[in-house]
Amino acid sequence: MNTPYWVAGQATSSADVVEVRSPYDGALAGTTSNATAQDVERAVAAAADVAEEFASLPAHARSAALDHVSRRLAERAEEVAALITAESGKPLKWSRMEVARAVSTFRWAAEEARRFSGELQRLDTDPAATGRLALVRRSPRGVVLGIAPFNFPLNLVAHKVAPAIAVGAPIVLKPAPATPLVALLLGSILAETDLPAGSWSVIPVPNEVAGELVADPRLPVVSFTGSGPVGYGILDRVPRKHVVLELGGNAAAVVCPDWADLDWAAQRIATFAMYQGGQSCISVQRVYLHADVYDAVAEAVVAHVRKLGTGAPQDPSTDVGPLINEAAAQRVESWVDEAVAAGATLLTGGTRDGAVYAPTVLADVPADCKVVDEEVFGPVVVLTRVASVEEAFDKVNDSRFGLQAGLFTTDVRLAFKASKRLAVGGVIVGDVPSFRADQMPYGGVKESGTGREGVHAAMTDLTEEHVLVLTGLDL
Ligand code: SIN
Repeated sequence: MNTPYWVAGQATSSADVVEVRSPYDGALAGTTSNATAQDVERAVAAAADVAEEFASLPAHARSAALDHVSRRLAERAEEVAALITAESGKPLKWSRMEVARAVSTFRWAAEEARRFSGELQRLDTDPAATGRLALVRRSPRGVVLGIAPFNFPLNLVAHKVAPAIAVGAPIVLKPAPATPLVALLLGSILAETDLPAGSWSVIPVPNEVAGELVADPRLPVVSFTGSGPVGYGILDRVPRKHVVLELGGNAAAVVCPDWADLDWAAQRIATFAMYQGGQSCISVQRVYLHADVYDAVAEAVVAHVRKLGTGAPQDPSTDVGPLINEAAAQRVESWVDEAVAAGATLLTGGTRDGAVYAPTVLADVPADCKVVDEEVFGPVVVLTRVASVEEAFDKVNDSRFGLQAGLFTTDVRLAFKASKRLAVGGVIVGDVPSFRADQMPYGGVKESGTGREGVHAAMTDLTEEHVLVLTGLDL
């Protein structure tokens, strides 16, 4: 049976059947169908109609629904993880991790929904406002169009849906065409709640249809995670809408000379350069190693990368599975080949089998190669020797992206300096840039995007301030 899609909370299907297949071996993960133009219209109209009612729904009701989703995801964790693996080829161990994170994302949203209260501001700070007080309340900007990517088909959907529900903003969610099934499963859990009809829809549509949704005036907020060209295309198309863009990166890690446990740093770099085939916006792509530690760390990174298990994503011991499709693996292959032809040293990897690209470590990569300048989104890491930490910082900043950076140091002053000096949305001290806790603000500067996710940050972003000034008070 086709997995239904969800229009204003109702299970629906169409004759436009879509087969979802594993990028690893082509096995059928499931089928669904694309939403018809009429169903898209119903989803948008219902969201617009319910917006006022939903914004007024008491916090306890929104929180209870979010809590239900969190608990049901936890109860069904193995089934959900298996589905992520089946449709995306993500190794099971990373799918399990993703489900655990989504449980936490919804739990945080349930908690934040109860806390989100606005603020009180005294105004009697100047004589003209004696006896006055401002109540600063936040209310939804309006219906959210969420456009989700394939690389975290559950948790990046959760980062769109959970904060929207938490603030009482209806959401129309478009899952990635390659990975709709887990978002639809999430829909089946949302359908168990008492959320008003119209407050959420999950509608698989081809990317071409997304343009019409983006332009629809009934959807004043667009929250997009995906590629830069598509994201900036959205911003150009609707400059007057509130657009949140979570785009790509070529995240860097720096290993400073004071870092003692070089093998641990190497193991973290190896793991998080290659996890889910490098298909994360904050996977480690560029590594700047101080000359004092270069040889030891480079050798250990290669050793750890060679230990990673590649193969069937369903095998719990597999570390690195396929990319999302063979074309993606071919692109990565061509970028590595370009670097090697330009003089880079291939320390390990560099081979492709269908959609699986072998975990690859490069060194001595000349400037301007795509594996350094662009977002690889594949299992490739580039090691570079630097003479000083300052030089490493310059190189981290020599990028049009700026999502997160990792800094292996125990020097707290250096950590503070990095936080000011590095043009990124977040610096992770003592670990790789790939660390993300779902409650922390997450997003980029430069071409990595605009706006922030992370439950509370997204709730702030999806709402706007309304000030209520009270006068004549005995403060
Ligand atoms: C992303 O790829 O932008 C998300 C990374 C994460 O949530 O860990």
